Amino acid sequence: MFGTLPAVLAGAIDRKTLPPPLKWAGGKRWQVPRVEAIWRHHSGRRLVEPFCGGLAMALGLGVARALLNDANPHLINFYTWIVQGLRPSIPMENDEALFYRHRDRFNHLVRTGRHDAREAAELFYYMNRTAYNGLCRFNGDGEFNTPFGQYKKINYARSFSAYRNTFAAWEFTSGDFGALRLQPDDFVYADPPYDVEFTAYAPGGFSWDDQVRAAETFSRHPGPVVLVNQFTPRIGALYLKLGYAVTELEAPRRISCNGDRAPAKEIFATRNV
Ligand SMILES: C[S@@+](CC[C@H](N)C(=O)[O-])C[C@H]1O[C@@H](n2cnc3c(N)ncnc32)[C@H](O)[C@@H]1O
Repeated sequence: MFGTLPAVLAGAIDRKTLPPPLKWAGGKRWQVPRVEAIWRHHSGRRLVEPFCGGLAMALGLGVARALLNDANPHLINFYTWIVQGLRPSIPMENDEALFYRHRDRFNHLVRTGRHDAREAAELFYYMNRTAYNGLCRFNGDGEFNTPFGQYKKINYARSFSAYRNTFAAWEFTSGDFGALRLQPDDFVYADPPYDVEFTAYAPGGFSWDDQVRAAETFSRHPGPVVLVNQFTPRIGALYLKLGYAVTELEAPRRISCNGDRAPAKEIFATRNV
């Protein structure tokens, strides 16, 4: 559909109900009620998301002040251009040949150092909607390599004006979470890549050492912290050892390998809440 926003976005002008503008693997919209129950005691604080991804938490809580960081520079470039009034002018159709032309063009921009251009933001949005499962996967050279998605129908937004004021009040940064400068009273919601083999959100991966570094970094923060992850025995042990209060949750997704349909387990860890 062409026009301004898909109906689902156009109707949602209230900041609290704005859906994330991108599809993002590991999106945590389903955790909003649980975090909101904590956040309501801290709502005057700044929300910091060191791994902000699709922004499900910041949008779902409807926070006024936020520092939103992600290692994926294309994601942050897209949000930054929304603040500047992004209105995609590239052709956007659910067409395989067009998808690969746009992917080539995006990778050309990346190779030539123009990954922060408005055109790169438009192409990134188009690829997010059109690529397989909304996956954001890169090869070793940092080039986007997710294949065409084969969806029946895709709605493309032509304007992101509904997000503009909200995003303008937030600070966006792109880099490793370790470089973030936290203020002592920040409320941290940290949702790192899962403790699994496949974590290809951004060039580079997220190793076990990164998991430990994240858990340790936020365990030193004097303000409230919510740290979530896929439940694995070593993640549970690590978070407990560092003094987090740990709860196990059932995620609204299933373990699908080997035909196992059991709900996936997640870990919800808190400090100073
Ligand atoms: C599970 S996703 C976050 C999803 C997000 N909470 C949402 O609701 O959409 C993890 C994010 O961490 C980012 N990431 C990976 N390594 C990182 C690092 N070293 N520092 C900061 N962000 C990183 C990925 O790009 C990805 O967007």
